[in-house]
Amino acid sequence: MSGRAAEATLLGLGHMGRALAGALLDAGHDVAVWNRTSGRDAELVSRGARRAADVRDAVVAAPIVVVCLYGQASVRATLDPVVDDLRGRAVVNLTTTTPAEARELAAWAAGHGVRYLDGAIMFVALDAEAIDSGDYSSPVQSLDWSDLGHLVRASEEQGVDPAPIAMVEELRRRQVDAGHGAEGFARIYESLRRR
Ligand SMILES: NC(=O)c1ccc[n+]([C@@H]2O[C@H](COP(=O)([O-])OP(=O)(O)OC[C@H]3O[C@@H](n4cnc5c(N)ncnc54)[C@H](OP(=O)(O)O)[C@@H]3O)[C@@H](O)[C@H]2O)c1
Repeated sequence: MSGRAAEATLLGLGHMGRALAGALLDAGHDVAVWNRTSGRDAELVSRGARRAADVRDAVVAAPIVVVCLYGQASVRATLDPVVDDLRGRAVVNLTTTTPAEARELAAWAAGHGVRYLDGAIMFVALDAEAIDSGDYSSPVQSLDWSDLGHLVRASEEQGVDPAPIAMVEELRRRQVDAGHGAEGFARIYESLRRR
């Protein structure tokens, strides 16, 4: 990519990354985008996003690099090879991590002259219609996708009692074990419903 710098780069164009990039475009920002698997940027590019050829091309395109990947390992796997190109830039990591993982990434960034801001996406899919009808087959967020194990671990790491989150995780796990993992998160209600 050449020419003047974009305002921000988005690494990772999954469900959340595409939504984030779309929101930046909606707000009129100049955005460069990259995804490991090609083709997921088509709609964004048709709306004016710049397509980066590879991670390095994406990183050098803008002073702010927003990261929305799968987990800690995918962030390091993506950023480690381009750490020299990140020097002097700001990384905003919105990938789900535990607090300990966030601190590890912050220390890694500081050690390489990279400014770092850690965030997280909280998304509560309460679907009252599905609960009323008992039809959870069109999930906004599936039970498989809603594993709360990392929040249980994060609570334990922080010395906070994980019991409230562990209880919800138990309700989710029962539904997954009963074969409903592809259905909506609101199905945890079925773990509570009186028979
Ligand atoms: N979806 C939700 O409702 C939700 C709610 C709260 C938080 N979050 C968090 O938001 C983050 C993104 O979620 P999502 O729903 O956007 O996930 P997703 O749709 O599954 O997308 C995952 C993204 O990570 C990329 N990726 C995975 N492993 C990679 C690797 N080793 N190297 C490079 N890229 C890799 C994928 O690239 P490919 O296209 O190449 O596979 C894809 O762009 C996660 O941390 C998730 O926990 C999501």
